[in-house]
Amino acid sequence: MEKELSKAVLANVAIPEDTANIFAEVAHRFEELMMMYQCAIQEVTTKLEVLNHEMSVRNNRNPIETIKFRIKKPKSIAEKLLRNGHEVSIESVSKHLNDVAGVRVICSFIEDIYTIADMLTRQDDIRLINVKDYIKKPKENGYRSYHMIIEIPVFFSDKKQHIRVEVQIRTMAMDFWASLEHHVRYKKNIDNSEEMSMRLKKCADVIAATDKEMQNIAEEINLL
Ligand code: GTP
Ligand code: MG
Repeated sequence: MEKELSKAVLANVAIPEDTANIFAEVAHRFEELMMMYQCAIQEVTTKLEVLNHEMSVRNNRNPIETIKFRIKKPKSIAEKLLRNGHEVSIESVSKHLNDVAGVRVICSFIEDIYTIADMLTRQDDIRLINVKDYIKKPKENGYRSYHMIIEIPVFFSDKKQHIRVEVQIRTMAMDFWASLEHHVRYKKNIDNSEEMSMRLKKCADVIAATDKEMQNIAEEINLL
């Protein structure tokens, strides 16, 4: 529809009276797509809450501290499609983007991350698309986190739709570093120098050592 409209404009062909309806229709389809991602987030967070609840009863401890989620903003969706050389259309979103729906799970200990990831992906309705283990293999800047792209079926009134969700799992300490590093990186008018990167990397390493020591302590007192 969008293509036809732009072709008509280029060819100087008269645009139908109800042009406004075309925009309304595109807006509605976009809204519907975002609703589907929102529902997929609901499904994933419910699964995580169920696991956390079960484990709190069985082990007397919550492996999950917090669950956060977000839907990618329209501007960021368009920017990422263009950046990767794809057309900006509704079809293009589900075809090319894996991170429109994002869920972030904040755990207490490193081991909890792997337990949660394993429990979630072993569920037979979840399809694991891709894993990036930035804990075993941290990024050069010191970033640590466990990333998964999963696909989850969502049942709507007339169809079952498989929807992709990016799940980031990290400890509170990793989250603390990532949040502050993000602020520093995007802080305008500040020279993000080599020296600044080195200092941030050093902080990440100190934090990782602390995470490991906390895990050792937890193991020694049979908390895990
Ligand atoms: P994006 O295009 O940013 O989505 O990256 P990608 O498709 O290569 O995926 P990747 O798994 O590497 O990163 C996905 C997300 O992880 C990012 O959007 C951030 O939320 C987070 N992330 C990755 N690297 C960093 C980092 O160096 N610092 C911080 N603070 N967050 C990061
Ligand atoms: Mg992303």
